[in-house]
Amino acid sequence: MNKIVHFLNKKYQRFFEIRKIFELRHFIHRKFKEKDLGSLGLDFSDKPIRQDIVQKIIDKKKFKNYLEIGCNKDELFSKIICENKIGVDPIRGGNLRITSDKFFQNNNNKFDCIFIDGLHKYHQVRKDIINSLKVLNENGIILLHDCLPNDVFAQAVPRCQHVWNGDVWKALVEFRTHENLDVYTCYADHGIGVIFNRKNKNLLKIGTTDFHKLKFEEYFNNYKSLMNVISFEELLKVVDL
Ligand SMILES: C[S@@+](CC[C@H](N)C(=O)[O-])C[C@H]1O[C@@H](n2cnc3c(N)ncnc32)[C@H](O)[C@@H]1O
Repeated sequence: MNKIVHFLNKKYQRFFEIRKIFELRHFIHRKFKEKDLGSLGLDFSDKPIRQDIVQKIIDKKKFKNYLEIGCNKDELFSKIICENKIGVDPIRGGNLRITSDKFFQNNNNKFDCIFIDGLHKYHQVRKDIINSLKVLNENGIILLHDCLPNDVFAQAVPRCQHVWNGDVWKALVEFRTHENLDVYTCYADHGIGVIFNRKNKNLLKIGTTDFHKLKFEEYFNNYKSLMNVISFEELLKVVDL
């Protein structure tokens, strides 16, 4: 009984510590960082969830090898049906307890479908994409979670609230400028980034090479063209191009 009380007490304290840290960071963001422009009003409630999107693509393309980076409670990983599944997470979930960097250092496998959902910070996502491209089978697909933040706080780094997409969107914008990668964002489940290793069909021209420094205001005003936003129905068509 004592052990349970001690455990709950620790959990309770940790919850309030995190809340205080988030409140402080929120304050710093509001006062010293990018302006609060309000919400884009993106509503994913009537759109397909990531599990349905990933499974539909795996089934449609008869994919056999699935890799998930960042698995957490296995909400996705445990539900995906595929012949070979590898799930990488240093904390919990999946079947390999390591970081994505360590995994890619030692990996010799190739994959048809890679779902990137690990650390939601630009530099790490960029690295995860580059490493994934090296082990992607021909005609394979890379998917990324959390590409469409609704407001400036949802994408702020460091994280300052519970609902958090991070600045994954900046990495996606960067790969939109590559001639030999075809990149989209599906309007579903917080924005599902999509990367094919083939000629870009809608190359983004943008006057920067330092994508980390992109401002949220630019995303807020131009997210549809920056991210190449498509519907789930359109995604199913571009998968077959
Ligand atoms: C948003 S959760 C993943 C959710 C899961 N993919 C799903 O769909 O339910 C992010 C996970 O990424 C993991 N993570 C953080 N840094 C990582 C890294 N460098 N490599 C791999 N996973 C990482 C965290 O431990 C956390 O469990």
